[in-house]
Amino acid sequence: MEKGASSIRSPKRRNKARKEGPVWEAAYASFSEEFAYSALEFLQPPIGSVIVDPFVGSGTSYLAANHQNCNFIGIDINPYSALLTKAKSAVEADRQLVRRLLGKVSQGRVSQPATADPNKLFRTKDVRYLNTLFGALTRRLGRESGDPLRVLLEDKSGAFDSETIALASALRASKSAARTHRRSNPAWIMVGPDPLGQSPTVGIQDQALSYGELMLNELAQSRERNPRTWCQVYAADFSAAPIPDASIAYFLTSPPYMSRLDYVVSYLPQLTALSLFSRVDLELLRMQMMGTTKMRGPLAENVAHANPLVADTLRRIRNHPSQASSGYYFRFYLQYFTDLARFLDWLRLKSRPDAQGFLVLQDSFYKELRLPMFEIVRDLARSRGFAVESKFVQPKRNHVGAMSPDQQRYAPDKTLREHVILITLE
Ligand SMILES: C[S@@+](CC[C@H](N)C(=O)[O-])C[C@H]1O[C@@H](n2cnc3c(N)ncnc32)[C@H](O)[C@@H]1O
Repeated sequence: MEKGASSIRSPKRRNKARKEGPVWEAAYASFSEEFAYSALEFLQPPIGSVIVDPFVGSGTSYLAANHQNCNFIGIDINPYSALLTKAKSAVEADRQLVRRLLGKVSQGRVSQPATADPNKLFRTKDVRYLNTLFGALTRRLGRESGDPLRVLLEDKSGAFDSETIALASALRASKSAARTHRRSNPAWIMVGPDPLGQSPTVGIQDQALSYGELMLNELAQSRERNPRTWCQVYAADFSAAPIPDASIAYFLTSPPYMSRLDYVVSYLPQLTALSLFSRVDLELLRMQMMGTTKMRGPLAENVAHANPLVADTLRRIRNHPSQASSGYYFRFYLQYFTDLARFLDWLRLKSRPDAQGFLVLQDSFYKELRLPMFEIVRDLARSRGFAVESKFVQPKRNHVGAMSPDQQRYAPDKTLREHVILITLE
């Protein structure tokens, strides 16, 4: 029997758990805690090992690493996701200090907030509150050390856990205080007042205070239950994080799917609020995200030349008779496959000779064409010296593509499959 002798659980979040929890926000396409726990039970990393997740999302893999008495390095290009992960590890946060920080009220009448809200999502009093809070946090984190968000995310000691929780609560609260609304697709938001007339009534401060309490309660429970470990997070493209070559022993991750979701739009209020604290370039972020709908410019077709299955998949997309197949869509998929190959090159470079880990992936369709993601990743990984084994496959009916009328017209019965694959360096 295999290592760990335990079976891999489904990565799909159960319906109840998929909805945003009252405390933490689940990332879109986040995998289930049961899966993350079972994956690490299978790998059996020795106590004190470091687990790496280069697409950490909301930090589900951190919870499993901590449960297994392991340390953790997470990377996410989205700084809000990076912060949510760090917040889940902030067990040293001090309740009195968090309350004091969040309780800060802006003093005096200021005609212009210190940093203006670039997207005009928040009321002036909320922007002023955020500026006051962020000013206090920046002072505590030390001006001389560069970007305050980086100081907080990369700290291993827990010294800034209270500041982490104060910041995470304020950003979480900013979502419901923003002038935005959602339509039928839950992943997209519209900027502007809700057409049904439900404009936000609660200010950021009140909500931040209540999120802060909820987060602190969860962390107090986890402090009692789980071992002390450290968690470092980098808000960067995976390849820009300072991970030494040949250092990764264990990894657990799920790269962005080809669902063409715009994560920047999904998190616009939180990212806008965060931009008042740390430099966040929304357009650059959108451009650099893997799976982005934005094109980065002309791309060589190296990934297709080196891989027959990628070449065949791209050829079928290019030859599809529907509009823009040979133009925009061909380039979109070429860019995605190029990013995927870039990720696997990086993983190969950073892996120790005995490295092992899990990837979670989802099939995709272009119109009625099934895009065989498992086989593509398997071939790309094998050609880089990894052994690949499928450990779990499950059909998934409720996916974002299934909501699109255009997609339903082309392939009404399509069922995507979610795959868990074990990757080992040979
Ligand atoms: C499928 S989600 C991961 C969900 C995660 N497993 C969880 O349970 O919450 C993929 C993540 O990859 C991030 N991402 C996209 N492009 C990236 C890049 N170039 N480098 C690092 N992270 C990136 C996205 O922001 C997103 O949070």
